[in-house]
Amino acid sequence: MKPVSLIQFLIEERRAGYINAELSLLIEVVARACKRIAVATNKGALGDVLGMATGAGDAASVNIQGEAQKKLDVISNEILLEANAWGGHLAACASEEMEDPQPIPDMYPKGNHLLLFDPLDGSSNIDVNVSVGTIFSVLRCPEGVVNPKAADFLQPGTAQLAAGYVVYGPATVLVLTSGHGTHEFTLDREVGSFVLSRRDIRIPQDATEFAINMSNQRHWQPAMQRYIGELLAGSEGPRGKDFNMRWVASMVADVHRIVTRGGVFFYPLDAKIAQQGGKLRLMYEANPMAFIIEQAGGAASTGQQRLMALQPTGLHQRVPVFLGSKNEVEVAVQYHQDDASQHG
Ligand code: AHG
Repeated sequence: MKPVSLIQFLIEERRAGYINAELSLLIEVVARACKRIAVATNKGALGDVLGMATGAGDAASVNIQGEAQKKLDVISNEILLEANAWGGHLAACASEEMEDPQPIPDMYPKGNHLLLFDPLDGSSNIDVNVSVGTIFSVLRCPEGVVNPKAADFLQPGTAQLAAGYVVYGPATVLVLTSGHGTHEFTLDREVGSFVLSRRDIRIPQDATEFAINMSNQRHWQPAMQRYIGELLAGSEGPRGKDFNMRWVASMVADVHRIVTRGGVFFYPLDAKIAQQGGKLRLMYEANPMAFIIEQAGGAASTGQQRLMALQPTGLHQRVPVFLGSKNEVEVAVQYHQDDASQHG
């Protein structure tokens, strides 16, 4: 079979009427920016890209979430902003690294799309050379809005036109959906382009692997204690089978494992993070991943409701995330819903 490049694939999607020319250009531009991020991450210690970013007076630079920024967080954010500023396909961008949306400079034409991204997810893993990634989500700019504000981005996940992530791992891999299946592209470094490596990915309905940060166990709600307790009990417990556990602490890598061989991923609400509503960000982490997982036949929930149905209230809002193989997500959600109905 002749290899299919990302560009060819996007032309096919346009011909099928799934995406328009502007969205196709947007995806191409994001993919091109991610190639540059792949080059920067690959340089490692040789590229002066490791370690913490510094601001004025050499103080550690901190993002809107109050998290210290790595140099590569800042570099990746700038690469994505710069690549997307001038193409005429965007009305504005929003990023984990910036408090407010970034308007398109007046000197460039504006388009009808809004782009949200986490430029470098899992960045605490950079210095130890473990996979990191970029996550992005595309929304339509509301009709008649010329200078989009944060409120214009607050659309539920079901309104996403496209979503994707790139894993900078042993291979650089892009996983993409525009609402017509989930597809994987692998970066061919010699040719310099993403090449289709899996079309129409299907996630197994049942799982034998789960991903959760077990160090938070004592802070979890009773439903999660019970659910994970049963998985750990394995073939001797009520589930009657053994489960394996993995936790990379880069959502992109954990989700990519699920997209490849099934399994479930949880970042639930716990007593430590209850006040902030969860750990992961709804708009540029949870929603794009939920779209990708659902399009591959999996499920994504907050533990109480379908993730993509949630009406956002803030650009940097956090949510509990349960996603992966459908049947297993449903069991965990059921335990949480039962607990919620018992305790009002
Ligand atoms: P960040 O983008 O700040 O690096 O956050 C990483 C996220 C996600 O990728 C991962 O699943 C999770 O945080 C890991 O959290 P813990 O360190 O609490 O395990």
